[in-house]
Amino acid sequence: MIRYKNDRLAVEDVSAEALARRFGTPLYVYSQAEILARYAALRKAFAGALICYALKANSNRAVCGLLRARGAGADIVSGGELARALACGFPASRIVFSGVGKTEEELSSGLKAGVLTFNVESFEELRALEKVARRLRRPAPVSVRLNPDVDAGTHPHITTGRADNKFGVEEGEALAMFERADQSPWLRVKGLQFHIGSQIETLAPYARAAASAARLVARLEEKGIKLELLDFGGGFGVSYRGEKTLEVGALARTLRKALAPWPQARLLIEPGRWLVADAGALLTRVLYKKTTSRRRFVVVDAGMNDLARPALYGAWHPVVAARRRRGKTMKADVVGPICETGDYLARQRALPPLEAGDLLAVLKAGAYGFSMSSQYNSRPRAAEVLVAGRKARLIRRRETIEDLVRAER
Ligand code: LLP
Repeated sequence: MIRYKNDRLAVEDVSAEALARRFGTPLYVYSQAEILARYAALRKAFAGALICYALKANSNRAVCGLLRARGAGADIVSGGELARALACGFPASRIVFSGVGKTEEELSSGLKAGVLTFNVESFEELRALEKVARRLRRPAPVSVRLNPDVDAGTHPHITTGRADNKFGVEEGEALAMFERADQSPWLRVKGLQFHIGSQIETLAPYARAAASAARLVARLEEKGIKLELLDFGGGFGVSYRGEKTLEVGALARTLRKALAPWPQARLLIEPGRWLVADAGALLTRVLYKKTTSRRRFVVVDAGMNDLARPALYGAWHPVVAARRRRGKTMKADVVGPICETGDYLARQRALPPLEAGDLLAVLKAGAYGFSMSSQYNSRPRAAEVLVAGRKARLIRRRETIEDLVRAER
């Protein structure tokens, strides 16, 4: 829960100002209660389903650990995420391995670990997995990722279910892959997956994708191929600007309806953003103000290396002052120190009059914030803090200058 208390922004019971003073800025802060409330809401809506948290949204082990301890599984897309998930205690039997370009090495680590299933995205990957399984003398669990050619209506960079996207395979190809997997002694047919995009705000694309998945399941049944898992991905949209967005209860009902003919199949979902976006904020201090004949700028100490979403997708995040002031506002661009014009956190935003040293918070930054941050411009990555009630815990220390050059020779 991140909100104002007596005009001071607070993460649960700790003021943003106190956090910034104690841990420095730029700083990622997360509310534990918010993450747990979101997870509980999803559990309620999707009772009986396996919820595999998409680690990429926020892969800090303390954050993942909160969900793992409450029964969540993990959706991973790399050997690195596999190692993280295992280190953080996710049982392999609750890990699904997604991704369009898994290497043989990654397939092999996943198989050795005993993941629940591989979401396979091409015929060639299926062959590679079979080869790895034969080498390890251990049959591999296979789900095929369907590309249902559905427009999820999201930013083009994060739409994944169209025939012109690199993800998944079309129905005919999927059918052939299932038949191949069914016949191979080294492959075990497990399920069907789709993931059509991220930050999806309406039900219709899910309904269309689920209908196309149901058609495929029916065709498989005619061939005697039964599925245990139906994985309908993630992508559940959150409200960044207070807009109306997806209601998870309605979404669960829609997805379940498509599954009704196959009561033996378990529903699996892979939410990332929905669980953690609202729980996080990026705290940053004002360094300077400046104006040109056309524009007013507030230069802050966080940049596109800390939060890439505005630069990358034109994403809109609320930016607020840690100390609320009423009365007059001015329009300004909130920009970072990086040497690119695309380095902004907000554009033409109404803000109270600000001075150097004032603290700002970029809200709803818990998903794809830190996890997409970089060291561009040789900036050490920010620290991360998890707040529970009155307790604030450093869950990742701020990087140092030594960290920047450590791997170089
Ligand atoms: N499953 C798969 C196979 C995925 O590729 C993704 C996200 C998810 C689940 C979780 O999607 P979510 O529930 O978080 O929407 N960096 C972008 C978002 C990229 C999403 C990539 N795939 C952003 O900041 O908006």
